[in-house]
Amino acid sequence: MGWRARGSEIMETLTVNLGDRSYPIHIGDGILSRAGELLTQVGLRGKIAIVTNPTVAQLYLDQANEALTRSGFAVTPILLLEGEEHKDLKSLSVVYDRLIGDRFERKSGILALGGGVIGDLAGFAAATYLRGVPYVQVPTTLLAQVDSSVGGKTGVNHHDGKNLIGAFYQPKLVLIDIAVLKTLPRRELVAGLAEVIKYGIIDDPALFGRLEKEMQKIVGLDRELLARIIATSCAIKARVVEKDEREDDYRAVLNFGHTVGHALEAVTGYTRFLHGEAVGVGMVKAAAMSMQQGFCDEKDFARIQDLVKKAGLPSDIPGDVRMQDLVQSMEVDKKAGGGRIKFVMCAGIGKARFHWLAPGEILGALEA
Ligand code: NAD
Ligand code: GLY
Repeated sequence: MGWRARGSEIMETLTVNLGDRSYPIHIGDGILSRAGELLTQVGLRGKIAIVTNPTVAQLYLDQANEALTRSGFAVTPILLLEGEEHKDLKSLSVVYDRLIGDRFERKSGILALGGGVIGDLAGFAAATYLRGVPYVQVPTTLLAQVDSSVGGKTGVNHHDGKNLIGAFYQPKLVLIDIAVLKTLPRRELVAGLAEVIKYGIIDDPALFGRLEKEMQKIVGLDRELLARIIATSCAIKARVVEKDEREDDYRAVLNFGHTVGHALEAVTGYTRFLHGEAVGVGMVKAAAMSMQQGFCDEKDFARIQDLVKKAGLPSDIPGDVRMQDLVQSMEVDKKAGGGRIKFVMCAGIGKARFHWLAPGEILGALEA
């Protein structure tokens, strides 16, 4: 497991091109220690709040703090309670209180140090405090590195549903340090791989092929491979976001496997499956539906099912989950419109298309 530290090398830099809201994504090994220099490069200085949680703070707060202080930043650490259940307005208030208490101004910054929970919440705090302050994403889970830190979707949950309160607000910089993945529990790492597999299915047959060939090495944290698949994933996400930043239509292609996945998470009370695990099941079901509808062939379906299993993700709906409940949950999901539900279908590995299905058709497909 693991790799030898090689200083703090930037292995790849990408750009999300959104006019005056464009920003770099730096990917490297050990580059958290260069946070001060990299934040300065995008125009940040002065006060910076590091929003994080106790688990991540114990592992990486000192390193981040030291790197920023060395470059002259005045750091305010803000520790929030851990877990999806604390991605809420109460935690958001904690952030606002500290920013106001420490007299943060329009040019002061926020740095999200953590997984998607911290990234979404800190990003929304940045979008709303003083009508918007600059922020930086330092994602520490694989899921956050390949998905949630890029693209500017920020927000918190409401007790009636996930991510109901939020804003599109782009960061000034995404700093991806693959070295932090060494401490990530394997189950979380594997859950993040679901999103990487998704990018292969919707956009990139070469990425899909690499995952088929190299999955064992990736799960074993091969640094070159990790950096490569993260960079490829971020590049695909950046291209989608550049085409449709506010999800008027095309950005929904990123939801491949998520319609069934979200429903599975909801009907099992958000406790049984990690998001990526539910997406693993959802991708296999979406591939099966794509085959039933004639968009892809049996070989594509088999490759998707095999890769999901090879990654160590679940690939089937548990026997005690009622298909009817899943379909009902999809109907109340925000993707439902006009009685039919928008699905992302696989039109062959590397190609996606949208297709609308009636609830009865989905039920039939899931029970097939
Ligand atoms: P998470 O943020 O809950 O992190 C998972 C766990 O890993 C937590 O317990 C965390 O403390 C721990 N952790 C984080 N980094 C670690 C490290 N390096 N070493 C050891 N432990 C570490 O989960 P997640 O999967 O990263 O994010 C899920 C959230 O992301 C959800 O709220 C979801 O809605 C959101 N999301 C947002 C987008 C978007 O586009 N904004 C996309 C996908 C998901
Ligand atoms: N994770 C889906 C999106 O960013 O649109």
